[in-house]
Amino acid sequence: MGVISALGMWGVVVFPIERFLPEAAQPAADIDWIFRFMAFFSVPILVYVNGFLLYFAIRYRKRPGDSMDAVGSPIHDHRALEAWWTAIPAVLMLALGLISYNVLPKYYGAQAATVTMEAIGHKWDFEFRYPGLKQSVYNDLYLPVNIPVTMDITSTEVREEDAVIHSFWVPEFRVKQDMVPGLVVPIHFTPTLIGNYRIICTEFCGVGHSDMWGKVHVVSQSDFDAWFAKQQHQAAAGPPPVKLAQGDATAGQAVFQQKCSACHNAAPFDQKKVGPGLADLFDDPKHPNLVNGRKANAADAADILEHGFAGSMGTMPTMQANGLSPADIANLVAYLQSLHK
Ligand code: CUA
Repeated sequence: MGVISALGMWGVVVFPIERFLPEAAQPAADIDWIFRFMAFFSVPILVYVNGFLLYFAIRYRKRPGDSMDAVGSPIHDHRALEAWWTAIPAVLMLALGLISYNVLPKYYGAQAATVTMEAIGHKWDFEFRYPGLKQSVYNDLYLPVNIPVTMDITSTEVREEDAVIHSFWVPEFRVKQDMVPGLVVPIHFTPTLIGNYRIICTEFCGVGHSDMWGKVHVVSQSDFDAWFAKQQHQAAAGPPPVKLAQGDATAGQAVFQQKCSACHNAAPFDQKKVGPGLADLFDDPKHPNLVNGRKANAADAADILEHGFAGSMGTMPTMQANGLSPADIANLVAYLQSLHK
């Protein structure tokens, strides 16, 4: 067991974590150091505890002929052993506490951030708000390299019925923070490596949980400025108009599968998932009106797709949150209409 432990501990020291998962932000290197420290001492504990477990299970197993209520060895306390297995973990925990005490302020403590922004968890999108930008950005987060960021992490507000806990996780940043309704937690990090990394929701938050992921694009300052200027321009201009007449039902079906089917069935109204079935949207005598109370027609359906709607049936996100283009909306309406032709 000593040999296996030594091999494992050596493996922990030499294993190049950053080769498989780049350290793309500060303080990723510190987090990896804590991880290595824990793994290093966990290896012998794992090997010895399970090794002895296995050894005793075999050595003191019930043999043929033993009575049904036979006991193994009558073992009583062993002072020296107990002292050791109390002292060693205590020292390890204390050391871990001291190291964490040193690293955590880099992550949670205030620092002179150049960008302070907000991340908000929704069912099932990440919303990001930048200072100086009127509209939110969904799922695709852009950050300039080497600029310290303070990100205020939270979730949809408590009073909204779909407020649940999400978790913001960027593995390459070693950044992970629960998004809790009603609680704003500022975290601090500095992206240090240009590239695209995953943002994953790592708290089960409903049927769309596995679909809740995004991308963080770490780009050069000039690329960031260009992107930001484009966003500001879009905010000023507003989204381009939806041209319903140009909708294509086949393309709409593909969009429906990809973007809508997590929450809606292409089936009658009563076959609900998160929201109602939509196959009879334009042809259901029992439900002649849309959720906004208006008669079901193409323009009003497009309006809900574009601006979203919150009502007794739940919340329909906006086109930005759903990642829909004006063409997608026209195609979706054409598809839903085609289901009755
Ligand atoms: Cu949001 Cu899981």
